[in-house]
Amino acid sequence: MKLTENFSLKSYNTFKIDVYAKYFTEFFSADDLSEILENRKQDHKMILGGGSNILFTKDFDGIILKNEIREISVVGEDDEYIYVMAGAGVNWQQFVMYCVSNNFGGVENLSLIPGNIGASPMQNIGAYGVEIKDVFYELEALHIEENSIEKFQNADCEFGYRESVFKKKYKGQFAILNVTFRLRKNPVFNISYGAIEHELTKMKVEKLSVKAVSDAVINIRRSKLPDPEVIGNAGSFFKNPEIESDRLKALAEKEPGMPSYKINDNTFKIPAGFLIEKCGWKGHRKGDTGCYEKQALVLVNYGQATGNEIYDLSGEIKQSVLEKFGIELEREVNVV
Ligand code: FAD
Ligand code: EPU
Repeated sequence: MKLTENFSLKSYNTFKIDVYAKYFTEFFSADDLSEILENRKQDHKMILGGGSNILFTKDFDGIILKNEIREISVVGEDDEYIYVMAGAGVNWQQFVMYCVSNNFGGVENLSLIPGNIGASPMQNIGAYGVEIKDVFYELEALHIEENSIEKFQNADCEFGYRESVFKKKYKGQFAILNVTFRLRKNPVFNISYGAIEHELTKMKVEKLSVKAVSDAVINIRRSKLPDPEVIGNAGSFFKNPEIESDRLKALAEKEPGMPSYKINDNTFKIPAGFLIEKCGWKGHRKGDTGCYEKQALVLVNYGQATGNEIYDLSGEIKQSVLEKFGIELEREVNVV
């Protein structure tokens, strides 16, 4: 085990926040991690993937364990599905590209989401009408205190909108080691969400394919989301709020043109980006923090912003949305 002390995390988080970890190490297998846990029982621990959903507000007074388990393998097959296991350290987009090149269907709508496999079920990542829970089969995770491996099936993960058991009752307790996905051998496409159909037409796609849908999603995302290599960010900073139909009716009268998505007869989701934009934040910059000019839900670091400055900006945004619309936004990014 190579342990580095006083380690800069600046290039290990997509917000590019310049904080230090007291200790930093990488693990390449479950055995590696087991050994580290055995040796570092007293340290405060955090598993790190691609750092694309974290806002560091201070130095980390403990050990950062960077997951580098990186194999992808087919582990099963039946008439309809192929079962692919990916190590938690595999980059998510590399996995999507593996599926695209093999024509395995199910994750094409999730193209170009940053980060690694390990965090994907934890966050129940989602985009363009698909969430991980739709393709998730099972995962293996190491219990950090007990140093033992457990398996979780889909129902065990208690998936919700950007939620899972690993963010709630088991928060900080497990290191996800690998995830098995159930992918379609004969893909069924889901192109009804957002601008996908429009983009496919623009691309002059005549026959749908996993690759065409993936390319369309990539084009849409590139047109509105900032590339973290250029401008620090962690994607959507807040969750889209869910409100009841009576509230929606009242709000829609106040804000004609407000988009909403039905969840069930009484519950609707509304885009937090719309609310934030209506409060005048879109394109706002204060020092090196800002609210992205093309997508108000994305907070950005133009260079030297600290985590606390970004956190404070998010607090001001939360407050103004509460005052104007009576809606309390919930942060989606993990604040550390
Ligand atoms: P990290 O940021 O490293 O970690 C996130 C959390 O998971 C931390 O609490 C960490 O401790 C924990 N964790 C990480 N790995 C493990 C593991 N192996 N075991 C246990 N815990 C672990 N998300 C979406 O859902 N949809 C989007 O469309 C989307 N778009 C984005 C666009 C941009 C430009 C950016 C920067 C982010 C976007 N995100 C999106 C957010 C982010 O990509 C996802 O949340 C991603 O899954 C985070 O993965 P990561 O490996 O970077 O996790
Ligand atoms: N909108 C505005 N102003 C803005 C931004 C958005 O009015 O500045 C309105 C528009 O009406 C737009 C609608 O909001 O049509 C939805 O916007 P968009 O399609 O960009 O999606 P979103 O709701 O802002 C969510 C996810 C994204 C995911 C996209 C696509 C959350 C918190 N965010 O964003 O996920 O990629 O849908 O499915 O659910 C992430 O989690 O980090 C993330 C980027």
